[in-house]
Amino acid sequence: MVSFFSLQTLLLPSLFFFLSTISAASCPSTPSPPTPLPPDILTILPQLLSPQSQILLPSSPSFPFYSTRFSAEQGTPTFQAIILPRTESDISQIIKYSNSHNLPFLAISGQHGSWYPLENFNGIGISLRNLSTRISLDKDGRHATIGGGMNVYETVQYLWSKGKQTTTGICECVGVISPGLGGGHGLFQGQYGLVGDQWVEARVVLADGKVVRVSEKENKDLWWGLRGAGHNYGVVSEVKVKVYDTPKGKESWSWESFSFKGKKLEVLYEWVNKGLIGTQPAELVHWSMWSLDKNIDPENPVITFSLYYNGPASELKMYSENIHNLGPVAHKEGVVEYSKMSAVFGADINGGFCSKNQNPNVALRASDVISYEIPALRKAYDLLSSGLKSEPAFAYSVVMLEGYSVQGVQAVPAESAAYPHRAQRILQAPTIVWPRGTNETLDEEAQGLARKLWIAISGTTEKRSYVNYAWGDEGPQALYGYEPWRLQKLRALKKKYDPESRFGYFASVETKSKGHGDI
Ligand SMILES: Cc1cc2nc3c(=O)[nH]c(=O)nc-3n(C[C@H](O)[C@H](O)[C@H](O)COP(=O)(O)OP(=O)(O)OC[C@H]3O[C@@H](n4cnc5c(N)ncnc54)[C@H](O)[C@@H]3O)c2cc1C
Ligand SMILES: *[C@@H]1O[C@H](CO)[C@@H](O)[C@H](O)[C@H]1NC(C)=O
Ligand SMILES: *[C@@H]1O[C@H](CO)[C@@H](O)[C@H](O)[C@H]1NC(C)=O
Repeated sequence: MVSFFSLQTLLLPSLFFFLSTISAASCPSTPSPPTPLPPDILTILPQLLSPQSQILLPSSPSFPFYSTRFSAEQGTPTFQAIILPRTESDISQIIKYSNSHNLPFLAISGQHGSWYPLENFNGIGISLRNLSTRISLDKDGRHATIGGGMNVYETVQYLWSKGKQTTTGICECVGVISPGLGGGHGLFQGQYGLVGDQWVEARVVLADGKVVRVSEKENKDLWWGLRGAGHNYGVVSEVKVKVYDTPKGKESWSWESFSFKGKKLEVLYEWVNKGLIGTQPAELVHWSMWSLDKNIDPENPVITFSLYYNGPASELKMYSENIHNLGPVAHKEGVVEYSKMSAVFGADINGGFCSKNQNPNVALRASDVISYEIPALRKAYDLLSSGLKSEPAFAYSVVMLEGYSVQGVQAVPAESAAYPHRAQRILQAPTIVWPRGTNETLDEEAQGLARKLWIAISGTTEKRSYVNYAWGDEGPQALYGYEPWRLQKLRALKKKYDPESRFGYFASVETKSKGHGDI
């Protein structure tokens, strides 16, 4: 038997050589070893923080509650500690303390971020979930102030109880503010605009711990960058947002879902291109999910095409009757109050998307387009189909095609915020799902399939990726726009507000382009 010692002497030099070649060839800089926690963190830091703040070490029973990610093992940051500030000034103190010890930090709110390079993060998490600022309606009844760690569920339920609503994402356990840092899609965007378009003022803790107010009037340059590339510039401790009265008679959403076999792909999406794109009312959302449903098709993914309409079912029929004519094999419909819409997507607080202990691995990607490129869809469908056949572990994978209406989004001038995809009407999102605890070969296959699907479904147009669905290898133009002035402006802001790139872990604007389309 070969002893451990002899194996080590045999293998180490060649392994070392191998590693050094890799890093010289492909990494911009050799990764430095992680900074360990300062030994006195538990004695010094609490003195700087308010009494109700908390420092959780990995040994703490509550640690997993604040560290577990939506994707169990892919793109997961390493947290040596998670700190729960209670006040904005706590956030500021934590940042100053981290800087003085050269310790990386990362803001956490809903824990759903899926940016793969977060794998490289090793430091402390600043979870905003227990900030004392929750949500309150302003006196004018037209704005609400929302704390940086609030989630969609808390926000929607509170506003609903006051007869109000605004644009938020759909999944109830996702943060309500952090999606707005990248734009933020939701059912109301046709009527009101993106999540970030609702903001009128934010309070931001900068890289040096300084707190600033940011709005159209104060720190105007940062205001522009915050709404589209905001993860780059600071920790948002609270935001003042526009809210709207729920109009009488518009409390409910009607929906219809149709299942099609794969051979109907062309007629269905040709109809969407002709019958919906461009004329879709602000109240109407179309959404597809391609997934396995062996009851309907034992072999290939089923196309579930759904319409969601903010209004009575009789009005939705004007659109849905065309789809009945295309020959679906199954149909469902319903009407629900807005505050219960997340459950229709399986994205309610008690649903699978919000589970913290059974999460699988997920590779999510984004391809934003103006209308469907049918041959690209066909190619992607066939790839998904063959991928599912060749690897049963991928059985829960899907392609989502999200067709939110865009009137409210396009009413905002494109150059007025960093969000760069206002012309795009459809968010195509291939999503490979596989069990946790598998091996690297399967992980690589899953990531490879997600990437192939993304390339296929993007078709012939310039690749664009909604930053909050992006994987991390898309390159900066795909995330932040192809107009050269956008990245120039974002990078100038970075130099000004975060010169040492302390907020460089999530979708950094400084990532260098690899070339056209960045693939
Ligand atoms: C199941 C699911 C459903 C989704 N639904 C939608 C949807 O309907 N609409 C939509 O637009 N997107 C949606 N997304 C994408 C979502 O926008 C991103 O995953 C987003 O990053 C999640 O935010 P989080 O607070 O939950 O995640 P976190 O992982 O807590 O945060 C993500 C990153 O944001 C930064 N960050 C978090 N909080 C702050 C803060 N207060 N200040 C500054 N930076 C901060 C940090 O860099 C962090 O790494 C969904 C994602 C999933 C997985
Ligand atoms: C966070 O706040 C909740 C509710 O106020 C409290 O129950 C919980 O203990 C806090 N978490 C930690 C780790 O302090
Ligand atoms: C990795 O996992 C897959 C799927 O479970 C399996 O088919 C394959 O044999 C495994 N490979 C190794 C090297 O264990």
